Amino acid sequence: MRLILHFVLWITLQSLCLAQYHYHVNRPKNNQPNFKFPSEYKELQRVYEWKNIQYGFPSEQERQELLRNGRYNPGSPIPIDIDVYYPPNGARPRLFVTSPRFGQGVPYSLAYVTDVQGENGTVLQAYPSYEWHSSHGGNCDGLTSVYRVHIDACGQMWVLDSGEIEFVQHCAPQVVVFDLATNQLIHRYRLPEAAYKAKVSRFVNIFADIRDPPPGGQCKDVFAYLADPTSKAIVVYDVANQQSWRIENKFTYPDARFGTHTVAGESFELLDGPLALSVTPLGLGLRRHLVFHALSNDLEVAIPLDILNNATNWRAGLSASLSEFMTLGRRGVQCASHAISRQGFWFCGFLEPIGIFGWDIRRPYTRENVQLLALNPDTLQFVSGMKIVQRPSDGREELWLLSDRLQKIFAGTIDYTEINYRVLRCDVDDLLQGRGCF
Ligand SMILES: *[C@@H]1O[C@H](CO)[C@@H](O)[C@H](O)[C@H]1NC(C)=O
Ligand SMILES: *[C@@H]1O[C@H](CO)[C@@H](O)[C@H](O)[C@H]1NC(C)=O
Repeated sequence: MRLILHFVLWITLQSLCLAQYHYHVNRPKNNQPNFKFPSEYKELQRVYEWKNIQYGFPSEQERQELLRNGRYNPGSPIPIDIDVYYPPNGARPRLFVTSPRFGQGVPYSLAYVTDVQGENGTVLQAYPSYEWHSSHGGNCDGLTSVYRVHIDACGQMWVLDSGEIEFVQHCAPQVVVFDLATNQLIHRYRLPEAAYKAKVSRFVNIFADIRDPPPGGQCKDVFAYLADPTSKAIVVYDVANQQSWRIENKFTYPDARFGTHTVAGESFELLDGPLALSVTPLGLGLRRHLVFHALSNDLEVAIPLDILNNATNWRAGLSASLSEFMTLGRRGVQCASHAISRQGFWFCGFLEPIGIFGWDIRRPYTRENVQLLALNPDTLQFVSGMKIVQRPSDGREELWLLSDRLQKIFAGTIDYTEINYRVLRCDVDDLLQGRGCF
């Protein structure tokens, strides 16, 4: 019955699309029939793997103290996001990983990856320093709980701090920006009370759209989009005007039919609103949109940036600017974080089949156009973090992702003797041309 319903929806939605995106360019090869399960997995250039997160501490004494007082419990942290910074001088990329404070036992929630090997994997260290995290909600000038980050083309890291630990709002949610060349704080915005709902909100994702990027631009014209899935809203932050506003309506809501998330035979329940946020690129000559979806929904939605970025359009609450939203199509299954390349290809890790799917934003979002690009039911279990990063040496783009087997954490079946968390990388062109990678 469910299958038939989805089929009907696919047919119905076949005709719905961003009309202007509907022409044929660079269509990725449909390589789905070529996949032979499981002998054709292409071995990924291995980046990082962990059995459990391996935290580094300022001293062994500090580690012991945190283990004693419960501020570090190795069974508590879960990594959810990754981002990558290529220094302009050609040095090796720097990797950042987040592990939010879902519970009390997380020593810090934003880290960089070191070269040191530990018992459970590569050792992390707190970013920008241990002191930024050590108050566990006591000092609102530090970081309370970071869910995701976004590194922009200007070498700035936009950090989204939810301000809460287990829904106790210790500090206002905040956006904190670091200059990665100097590791200095360069901007901070604490959300005003109207922009969030204490005890309900949990800010989990940020996308900073730099509208004047280098080399020509000054990196000053920026709108940041924040996802608050538990209060089912998107917050727009107009950086130049230091203003923010909430968008909450039927398009930001979860769909109860997609409240059960099943990965590799294990299921968990979540009724989460917006998680994935990405803008369509500059320079394609198309009206630009924010493309987003709720985690617990299979609907992909777009809203034009010129509508989104004008606060006066959002004064009517639930009914504001509804006709401006475009329902792109339905996947029939959930996917978590997504990313869009410079050439306008969207990527997302589906829960079933466990693989990376791609879509050309100029084509209708239909089953035939949303194509399986890579499949690996072992390493791609719950792709929680996904980024596209431009490699300065040759200008090519890389897709980076973090997978974390979230279903095992909910089910209590996580086994710390096996690899649970992975950072994977693939050239965007390799994926699109069907050369696999994952
Ligand atoms: C490695 O992970 C196990 C399982 O969570 C944990 O008990 C142990 O303390 C970890 N080791 C280190 C050095 O963090
Ligand atoms: C914002 O939208 C309102 C209508 O909702 C319009 O009157 C106004 O001109 C717009 N402002 C800008 C800067 O486009």
